[in-house]
Amino acid sequence: MDRKLLKPSNINKLKDIRTPFYLYDMKLFRETVSEVVRLSSLYGIDVHYAVKANAGKPFLRHMASEGFGADCVSGNEVLCAIENGFSPDKIAFAGVGKTDREIETALKNGIFALTCESLPEISVINELAGRLGKKADILVRINPDIDAHTHKYITTGLEENKFGVSGHDFDALTGLLADCGNVNFKGLHFHIGSQILDVEEVFGLECRRAKEIARYFEDKGLEISHIDLGGGLGVDYEAPDEHPVPDFEKWFRTIAEGMTGGKRENPRYHIHIEPGRSIVAQCGSLITRVLFVKNGIDKTFLITDAGMNDLIRPALYGASHRIVNLTAESDHEGDTAVYDVVGPVCESSDVWAEGISLPAAMRGDMLAILSAGAYGQVMASRYNLRDLAPAVWLDWNGDEAVLSF
Ligand code: LLP
Repeated sequence: MDRKLLKPSNINKLKDIRTPFYLYDMKLFRETVSEVVRLSSLYGIDVHYAVKANAGKPFLRHMASEGFGADCVSGNEVLCAIENGFSPDKIAFAGVGKTDREIETALKNGIFALTCESLPEISVINELAGRLGKKADILVRINPDIDAHTHKYITTGLEENKFGVSGHDFDALTGLLADCGNVNFKGLHFHIGSQILDVEEVFGLECRRAKEIARYFEDKGLEISHIDLGGGLGVDYEAPDEHPVPDFEKWFRTIAEGMTGGKRENPRYHIHIEPGRSIVAQCGSLITRVLFVKNGIDKTFLITDAGMNDLIRPALYGASHRIVNLTAESDHEGDTAVYDVVGPVCESSDVWAEGISLPAAMRGDMLAILSAGAYGQVMASRYNLRDLAPAVWLDWNGDEAVLSF
């Protein structure tokens, strides 16, 4: 979060907005995107933004205008990406359970590739493409059986996960592709998990496995022109102010060296990646107010007007997000106290943080729950019939915040 936000005139601008809401910093977002654009051209790696992380229109439009492709996981995401300016020939569509309707949407729009996750899916795509008189461009998602050292709900490349085609199906896959006349096989896809922090080790291993598996299929006579290594770069949830822009350089370098030995000339494969979280997480905060300061027997609770329905990551993954008391830091700074910060939803897991030290808080204080730009608003629900928290877009005119709704 940009500390300029704590300037009284800026805090005043936020005060009248009904909480909770998501506040997105467009300046930080543009800086993040510029860094990705720079590295994409430096290393010759194509970037497809993972729309599932945040489908906010200003984000999508800007990335589309910077030439990004999109990685989608539903027919609606494909349509949303196209509506917001992404070129269909840069859209990849993954997902283990695509409906016929979604497959047809992708085929009719001529996207870059349907990323197929099973043999039966390839057969169905072949049949539907035939009916439409089209040839379906596909990547095949491979399950490389790699441990991404991340939370078990967001690891996707282990043999026991539902994602991708595993080793025991490789021979059958080769035969099937030879039989599918309406399918144009373009290459392989890998995505091994999310919030990966052991960048060199995990992505280095992913590259080695990708090359091994690609060679295996080439030896069987398949031509592979594209390799998509998915997303997964982690962000610093503990100290977001120290690392507002994630270490993309390390990620791109690891992949470039892993796939081509760092050489850009005549690379064997066209390399793609699909970052989601790393682009938008640090650009968003969930802004909420303290409804009550409640004294328990051993604890003091800060009860906020935002709940797990607005941001489910703590309840679902035990994720921790830094919390800043915007009001206290800007105008009534004093002692600190230890709090359990909790939401209003009727579930015991509706907890933001336990036993954290914050400036002494009062009813009405505005809190920012940081690093909430990815998998926040998109995963919100109306549980308890609560309203959905809207987006507020923050830009800067020098030190002055400019808000749009
Ligand atoms: N490509 C594919 C095929 C994916 O499944 C995903 C994310 C991405 C790319 C983008 O990964 P990223 O760069 O964002 O790590 N809701 C969870 C994260 C779920 C990730 C799902 N797949 C969370 O809040 O941590």
